[in-house]
Amino acid sequence: MSAAPSVMQCALTLPKAILAASIKIRFRSLAVLAAVLLGRNLLSQTPSHSFSIGDDSFLLDGKPFLMRCGEIHAARIPKEYWRQRLKMCKAMGLNTVCAYLFWNLHEQEPGKFNWSDRADVAEFCRIAGEEGLWVILRPGPYACAEWEMGGTPWWLLKGEGVKLRSRDPRYLAAMQRYFQEVGRVLAPLQVTRGGPIIMVQVENEYGFYGKDREYMSAVRASLQSAGFDVPFFGCNPPGVIRNGFLPDLFQGVNFASNSARAFQKLREVQPKGPLFCSEFYPGWFDTWGQPHHSGKEDKYLGELKAMLDAGASFSIYMAHGGTSFGLWAGCDRPFKPDTSSYDYDAPISEAGWPTPKFHRTRELFSAHLLPGETIPELPATNDVVSFMPVTLSETAPIFENLPEAVTDMKPQTMEQYDQGYGCILYRTTIPEGASGPLRPNMLHDFGFVFLDGNRIGVIDRRHPERSVMIPARSTPARLDILVYPMGRINFGAEMADRKGMSGPVSLGSKVLETSWEIFRLPLDGKMLAGLKFAKAHSQLGIPAFWRGSFRLEKAGDTFLDLRSWGKGVVWVNGRCLGRFWNIGPTQTAYAPGCWLKQGDNEVVILDLLGPDKPVLSGLEKPILGELRPEKDFSKGRPRVKPMLEAVSPVYEGAFAQGSGTQEVMFPAAAEGRYFCLEALGSHDGGPVAAVSELELLGPGGKPLGHEGWTIAYADSEESSAEDGSAENVLDGQIADHWITASKNKPAPYPHILMVDLGRKSQVAGFRYVPRQSEGPGRIKEYRVFVGDQLLRKE
Ligand code: GLA
Repeated sequence: MSAAPSVMQCALTLPKAILAASIKIRFRSLAVLAAVLLGRNLLSQTPSHSFSIGDDSFLLDGKPFLMRCGEIHAARIPKEYWRQRLKMCKAMGLNTVCAYLFWNLHEQEPGKFNWSDRADVAEFCRIAGEEGLWVILRPGPYACAEWEMGGTPWWLLKGEGVKLRSRDPRYLAAMQRYFQEVGRVLAPLQVTRGGPIIMVQVENEYGFYGKDREYMSAVRASLQSAGFDVPFFGCNPPGVIRNGFLPDLFQGVNFASNSARAFQKLREVQPKGPLFCSEFYPGWFDTWGQPHHSGKEDKYLGELKAMLDAGASFSIYMAHGGTSFGLWAGCDRPFKPDTSSYDYDAPISEAGWPTPKFHRTRELFSAHLLPGETIPELPATNDVVSFMPVTLSETAPIFENLPEAVTDMKPQTMEQYDQGYGCILYRTTIPEGASGPLRPNMLHDFGFVFLDGNRIGVIDRRHPERSVMIPARSTPARLDILVYPMGRINFGAEMADRKGMSGPVSLGSKVLETSWEIFRLPLDGKMLAGLKFAKAHSQLGIPAFWRGSFRLEKAGDTFLDLRSWGKGVVWVNGRCLGRFWNIGPTQTAYAPGCWLKQGDNEVVILDLLGPDKPVLSGLEKPILGELRPEKDFSKGRPRVKPMLEAVSPVYEGAFAQGSGTQEVMFPAAAEGRYFCLEALGSHDGGPVAAVSELELLGPGGKPLGHEGWTIAYADSEESSAEDGSAENVLDGQIADHWITASKNKPAPYPHILMVDLGRKSQVAGFRYVPRQSEGPGRIKEYRVFVGDQLLRKE
């Protein structure tokens, strides 16, 4: 029996661009087929269910099926806990789970595939099936998901790099090879072969990125050729559905609020088929230095209820966020690194606990079950333990643990030295001379600069200057730049986010013509095993690994309190738990009990700044929302004053009411380093201004990349009631926004927001996305300025 034919079922066409790659793979597919038939005999599995997309509902075994789905990522949960988390999903009342695959986790080196431990997604799907959950697979090739480079392998950036998410034949061939492997492992788990996988997603929010329909067709065809035969779908936020839209590919729509409007937008392009919200946000992720996000419970439940009442299916993104263990956390655009905790304020907490949102969701769903459905009792949560402060008394300073160097006349990015992750040290000798700024051509993301072993400053990607002052020297001096990259940007055009440093490097007005030694520090298991630790001797302030242990009477989940540490990475018993940074908002690291043991547990902490005190304790609860801006080494946003009096606006207008995206083209393109939006009044007549997104358009209307952009000035930002930082207008995420102080004494109009584009740019217009959630601040009258002289330093 095969799945009932679907109205949206897509034609099997293989674009020319990937035919070449697929011929080779056909042979492999035959071999795989033979192995399967002879060995595991998977094709003999008879499907006992069918799934298809009907004219107005999903159909399971031919009957209307309302999907109460929730997103959950195998890689963000210890494998030992998968079943507990999936049982929690089921106990919340979900009947389906949605799961991304992260290509860069599964193919860390070209052609070498990894399906072990947290990458064992087949096992994850099997457990989901056993727990009575259907699975929607989102294999990419791009995921986003606040995951390093959106799930794309870094090695695609080597050399000149391929054009990501495009029909660049090198990208398509790499994708095809990966999908063939995904098909080998996961196609046997489709409902058509007796497994739990009922739908497969093609790409992810491609409408945000491009408009190339042939690329979307190529991705779909590649999945088909890998053996996926369940219904496919694409997903986008309402505003960009038309970009790259394939009429014969079923669409879901992603949003945080106003389901009625989002579905109406969906209906404009897809008049038939079930309503499906493919991502509905109960909370949001966190980025370093910004307030912890939490989603409003009533609003979340109200929207869920509205969808249930409308007979719409949905996927709660995230049902359980988990943790971006290791160095897998990504980075929002233009540069807002994500925290390792991916708690997301989801109904199931990072450690798998039910939250108030969980209980209310369960209650709501209990009243909306399909015939024959039941909700099981909650599974037990894992034991929680704590431990008293211990001192980490051994250190291995980075400078005393350097591997063999590579030499180069001009420093290049980490990718060019065949390194994907970790830190990298660039060393040279600079001649005697006067003081002057040290400025590399590019440095991603933090460059800790040392002169003869003494730290003199940090080159900080968040700051528009991206330089440090080198003091005068009477003799040549050793210059060390230790670069600490955070996750690669996972969203938008800036995803090809190369790390490390590239030359030329200038000192004062001259380019350094010296030769460089480059030390690769991948922070992997091999490097950790080779570190030479010794009793700590006054190491504070020097980048070093610290080692110690804590004793447990019994193993259990705990949260490592990192408040006395600076910035770096933490491992327990060889498992990398993630990154920490004293500025918050996350101040703890989730240490799952299944990775701990009774007795001594080894901790290693890499601290680039050095701790206040090298002590560590284990708490019973996480600290996810403690900001400490006073701890930041950043100079912060430069203090400037806008100077608009003497400048003429390039445009004056009024935005229409509502939450829809509005595009404005100027009579002629304007040139300058700064873009300024001056809001003169609001639609509601109140004092508050809010903007979700600003996309600047170049001549021809193409959005400009955000690389190197910073916020130069915002007259006011809400920081206590919610994360209203101005950076939110550049992150590409429509669910958050810049909002002027709204809680305590709101400042009156006009409100000014100025973007520093880092270099002179041609701006021909812009796209404005109003705040999406209901609330104050939608702007009415405004003026726009573009120029080089729009502000002065204070
Ligand atoms: C988008 C993406 C998701 C995730 C969310 C934000 O909708 O599709 O992968 O990044 O934003 O959490």
